[in-house]
Amino acid sequence: MNTFSFWNPVKLHFGKGSIEQLAKEVASYEKILVVYGGGSIKQNGVYEDVMNALTGKQVFELSGVEPNPRVSTARKGVAICKEQEIDLVLAVGGGSVIDCAKLIVAGAKSDADAWDLVIRKAPANEALPFGTVLTLAATGSEMNSGSVITNLETKEKFGWGSPAVFPKFSILDPTYTFTVPKDQLVNGVVDTMSHIFEQYFNNATNTPLTDEMSEGILRTIIDVTPKALTEPDNYEHRETLMLSSTFGLNNFLSMGSRGDWATHNIEHAISAYYDIPHAGGLAILFPHWMRHTLHVNPARFARLAEKVFGVERGHLKDEEMALEGINRLSAFWKSIGAPSRLADYNIDDRDFEGIIAHTVLNGPFGNFNKLNSEDVRAILVASL
Ligand code: NZQ
Ligand code: ZN
Repeated sequence: MNTFSFWNPVKLHFGKGSIEQLAKEVASYEKILVVYGGGSIKQNGVYEDVMNALTGKQVFELSGVEPNPRVSTARKGVAICKEQEIDLVLAVGGGSVIDCAKLIVAGAKSDADAWDLVIRKAPANEALPFGTVLTLAATGSEMNSGSVITNLETKEKFGWGSPAVFPKFSILDPTYTFTVPKDQLVNGVVDTMSHIFEQYFNNATNTPLTDEMSEGILRTIIDVTPKALTEPDNYEHRETLMLSSTFGLNNFLSMGSRGDWATHNIEHAISAYYDIPHAGGLAILFPHWMRHTLHVNPARFARLAEKVFGVERGHLKDEEMALEGINRLSAFWKSIGAPSRLADYNIDDRDFEGIIAHTVLNGPFGNFNKLNSEDVRAILVASL
């Protein structure tokens, strides 16, 4: 393992009825900005639960946070925080709402434009306190300090982060995910699995504990997802998926190692151009990144194939096992309805140059397998 320091101060309240904790969490704050998305929380009763818990507080609202949240929306939130002297922001929704809230709370404590915080032109060292009520199991944003923001004007989508934007608390009630439609459930599963892959493919040695944890979460997800799809109101399946997605990206799995993250970088570039769901892009790209990267460490891919996808060694070489494992991953994602080709989103090669330039803005990237422009082109062409 690599040497590491670990810090994750997020207080989790998990389980049915956890919203009861909200009133206590906000007790010492007066002016609260509630940030949410396009209205799902008004249809499924979550909005009402939240507002009941905030009775007696001065509540302000910012709605309409987009999937792939825009910097323009975060700027509106920053303006409200400054004008109204907000003292707590509460994000109620999925990863997009939470990521937008992270930029709002950092922007509220900065004189710089919000986009400058994203592109690291200005530091994001301070932030207003914020909490989350999660309604979609996917990103892990409820327990990490990262955020991904899109700038439509410049066709850019970048991840940024700061220890200042860890949520103070996150409320995770699996019943709040009962209304998540099937395609979003699938997106959440693909995103979570992709986060685990990004961390699993690292160059550290002797990582048996985090390897087993990663493989265990992947196996659990593969087992539960088809059941959750047939029984959307099954509490136990939803709770399993919710905890899995939080663990997928709360950095426990990268203790002692540094994950790859190249596929996320390529996906963000595609989303910047086409505004497709993040996980849809990952489902298309990841098997191709794997085939492109296999040569770096065939034994690592063979281990994944065996431990997660049940590929038996028999007389197979590492490369053969690895390829069979990747095929089984593709087959699993296809079986749950994830896309597999850029053509599924009507994307052809016309913007490849711009997408490639976006990925290599800071030079070759990826920690397990360094990719340059030609590598990205090969992965994109294979994904057509
Ligand atoms: O906007 P509303 O009406 O709330 O509807 C949302 C949205 O349309 C809907 N939804 C959420 N909860 C629901 C629900 N519909 C019914 N019932 C519920 N309970 O689902 C749609 C998608 O929501 P969104 O928040 O966009 O999805 P997700 O959580 O997958 O977040 C995706 C964003 O997170 C970024 C992605 O790039 C993308 O912008 N990521 C953030 C990360 C992080 N901060 O750590 C890491 C990830 O790798 C990812 O890049
Ligand atoms: Zn992701």
